[in-house]
Amino acid sequence: MATLRITKHGEDVLKRVSEPVDFDKLKKKLPGLLKDMWATMYGVNGVGLAAPQIGLNIRLAIIDVRPDQKPQRLVLINPEIVSKEGGIDEEEGCLSVPGLYAKVKRYARVRIRATDHHGKPYEMSGEGLLARAFQHEIDHLDGKLFIDHLSLTERLRVARILKDLRLNWT
Ligand code: NI
Repeated sequence: MATLRITKHGEDVLKRVSEPVDFDKLKKKLPGLLKDMWATMYGVNGVGLAAPQIGLNIRLAIIDVRPDQKPQRLVLINPEIVSKEGGIDEEEGCLSVPGLYAKVKRYARVRIRATDHHGKPYEMSGEGLLARAFQHEIDHLDGKLFIDHLSLTERLRVARILKDLRLNWT
């Protein structure tokens, strides 16, 4: 088990649309890969991590928003949003943009379809932080970061902050 370097805003791997996962091809490597991803995410107290954040452009992400303070490890392979409703404006951050938080409008409730770590398809509904995590992680697989949702004015404000923050990123 290893903790991996998390890619940062500005790196190409975060801007690319990731490739669908062929489960049978990834099957052998998947347990080791997931172990490293969990260690990396928990190591920095994250609630979600997508493969591009460890330098891989494949449609794989993990989420644990700890409902009721208990672990709930979700593996999302080739996730898709199948329904969405409502809207909520809340502060959001990202391990690839450390130190920056901004209000982002998201759907309040979403239902996703994905494949789990056994290769089994599932559907799951989420609201609150889980709904936000679903949308945030799927965005990563489409080459988008939460700051891409900000208004032009907000983005200009954030650009100045990012310039300073970037000096401390590794
Ligand atoms: Ni993120």
